[in-house]
Amino acid sequence: PEPTEVFARVVAWQRRAGRHGLPWQGTRDPYRVWLSEIMLQQTQVATVLRYYERFVTRFANVQALAAAPLDEVLAAWSGLGYYRRARLLHRCAQVVVQQHGGRFPCDFATLRTLPGIGDSTAAAIAAFCAGERVSILDGNVRRVLMRLWADDRDPAAVATQRDLWTRAQGLVPATATPADMAAYTQGLMDLGATVCTRLRPRCDACPLLDRCQAHRAGTPTAWPRPRAR
Ligand code: ADE
Repeated sequence: PEPTEVFARVVAWQRRAGRHGLPWQGTRDPYRVWLSEIMLQQTQVATVLRYYERFVTRFANVQALAAAPLDEVLAAWSGLGYYRRARLLHRCAQVVVQQHGGRFPCDFATLRTLPGIGDSTAAAIAAFCAGERVSILDGNVRRVLMRLWADDRDPAAVATQRDLWTRAQGLVPATATPADMAAYTQGLMDLGATVCTRLRPRCDACPLLDRCQAHRAGTPTAWPRPRAR
């Protein structure tokens, strides 16, 4: 019953208190969701909002993006920083056109093969667009789970991350609907970004408070442990 309870609480919390009405939440078009997730990787929501609409107006679909000269893509990206993302974005669009007939995939396994799409981004797109039962595990979500389980391991170690992923997958019930998967995925990210923050978590606002082992220990910010050096 435990995994289902955590899942259900995050879903309910997202519907009540998570972020809503963001432009990329109103679509299941994997092209649009992919763009937003790449932009959100290293940039805050408020900044992404200022670029996203302009970008999808200029490049309305994956064909338009793939056909555009790289310098036009970089110009539209300017201000978002981390230009490597924009180069990979452009290359990814070309692979989708050349190898997938211009249909942007929305299953985890295929997404994972594309340039610039790692495990967490693939999971986010698959959950949002197809309701696939895969768990995201970005930096914020990793912090939430390591506190929930008072996990003392080195958060940067590959073995830790692999095991956390397995445990995170175990939180997703077999009966989760596509709408649940979307709410859960967004909810975990929102929880990490707005409640279970690195320095000053707002535990009183957390739907997982009564089962959080880091909170029970009285020192939630002691997790994740400092990475080993
Ligand atoms: N960071 C990465 N993906 C995000 C999303 N969908 N919402 C908010 N922050 C994110």
